[in-house]
Amino acid sequence: MKKLLIAGNWKMNLSLSEATQLLKTLNQQAHTFVNQVAVFPPGVYLSLAQSLLRDTPLQWGAQDVSAHADGAYTGEISARMLADLGCKYVIIGHSERRQYHRETDELVLEKCKAAQQSRLTPIICIGETATERKDGLTFDIVRQQLSPFLTPYSIPLLTHCIIAYEPVWAIGTGLTATPEIAQDVHLAIRQAIAAHHATTAKTIKILYGGSVKPDNAASLFSMPDIDGGLIGGASLSADSFMALCRLSIS
Ligand code: PGA
Repeated sequence: MKKLLIAGNWKMNLSLSEATQLLKTLNQQAHTFVNQVAVFPPGVYLSLAQSLLRDTPLQWGAQDVSAHADGAYTGEISARMLADLGCKYVIIGHSERRQYHRETDELVLEKCKAAQQSRLTPIICIGETATERKDGLTFDIVRQQLSPFLTPYSIPLLTHCIIAYEPVWAIGTGLTATPEIAQDVHLAIRQAIAAHHATTAKTIKILYGGSVKPDNAASLFSMPDIDGGLIGGASLSADSFMALCRLSIS
């Protein structure tokens, strides 16, 4: 059986009581999950995740991290703080951060270094917009977003990273890439990495994200180069998220 990573990105959603309820439900049902599962609540709920999930196989992480180690950076959260809260992962370069906070490929690299210094596993998000896809630029865009990592100096960082391919046109829109489209891009990502480091290309997990739901997940996750999913909307409901956590792909 293929062991998927199911990562639930809550984004800026849920009240404190809703977050508590969802975490408690996941805690109670964790023994029924067949996949590796991680949740990414807003930063203010990470300590709650730590106290409610600490004795379960479930993992948690943050939706962003500062590129700086510490200091006068109002509003930022450092990797060390996240590690102290038991985070295993951190999402970096989500398209919403790139779009609304002008995060660049170079900043993504800096955040990745900061995360790894505190032993967090970065989940690096890449993906093209609808216009870029229409213009036939999908492969160029994902390669460009990966390019800061594809140098002799930075390629070792990827050994301890996860990639999430999230076509921007599929995020929160209900439009999902077909399994074949997603597979083609995942394979291209692996090939781009293979040109620099063959072992990392083989072992790196590449998640798909963009309107993944229980009814479209099986065909996506059956593709050979898709190792799991970064789930937004469907991670906010216990029923739909748990259906993904229990999905077994042979
Ligand atoms: P979505 O979000 O599942 O709601 O499309 C995915 C993501 O942005 O990570």
